[in-house]
Amino acid sequence: MSPLEHKKNLPIGVFDSGLGGLTVVHAIRKALPSESVVYLGDNARVPYGTRSAQTVVRYAESCAAFLQTMGLKMLVVACNTVSSVAMPALREQMSGPVLGVIEAGAAAVTAGRPSRIGVIGTAGTIRSNAYIREINRLAPECLVHQESAPLFVPLAEEGWLEGEVPLLAAKRYLEPLAEKKIEVLLLGCTHYPLLTPSIERALIELGCDAAVVDSASAMAASVRNVLRGHDLENDKGKKGILDLYVTDMPGSFHAAASRFLNEEIKGVTCVDI
Ligand code: DGL
Repeated sequence: MSPLEHKKNLPIGVFDSGLGGLTVVHAIRKALPSESVVYLGDNARVPYGTRSAQTVVRYAESCAAFLQTMGLKMLVVACNTVSSVAMPALREQMSGPVLGVIEAGAAAVTAGRPSRIGVIGTAGTIRSNAYIREINRLAPECLVHQESAPLFVPLAEEGWLEGEVPLLAAKRYLEPLAEKKIEVLLLGCTHYPLLTPSIERALIELGCDAAVVDSASAMAASVRNVLRGHDLENDKGKKGILDLYVTDMPGSFHAAASRFLNEEIKGVTCVDI
């Protein structure tokens, strides 16, 4: 096998603080079925969104270092919190391409040229203003209103996706955005798409008809573009392998991952990073 062939066969590394990044893995597996993926969910240290930027960078560097030992052709940062503060550090650390979620999310939410956009994310993502900067780079005339929605992360990790509690939380978080008459709502955290039914219901109950957008499929399209650009696409046609790693509780992660990915999961390995 030529060195280029060998490189094309290497997996794509993906990480997040826990389950959330599986929304991106799901989209990659659907759009690029021949690609192998190694996923790391750093669930021993979830949530990232309530921590300082300095701590998030340190956690991200250790996740990337672990995935690098697997031999990757590219790294996908499936975490908005990390993408909003750690991209320069990760690009310096890794030898191959590194893709974050902010650009894909901003491109997806501005696609229909709305004039009022709502963004929800973790406290860290919102504090960084990364989405305001990127959305206004693409659509300078657009008004961006943002709110942090920290309780959505533990709710998603717990699998508490529908019912009174997530609906009440969603209504509290979305009320200020509904008052601003947003036309589109960007889910600026990879955990949040798991709560889409509750989020959509809350918007309806608040009298807001904003469309809900997440970055997962836009991310998969960006991954394909990056691989093409580097001549690294695996076009073999054989189904790629999925390897899952966590830093805690592999059993509960296995059950949740099988549900979200809608595919048979071999096993989940617990690692100390
Ligand atoms: N899913 C992550 C994000 O997109 C992080 C959530 C958290 O750990 O707080 O921001």
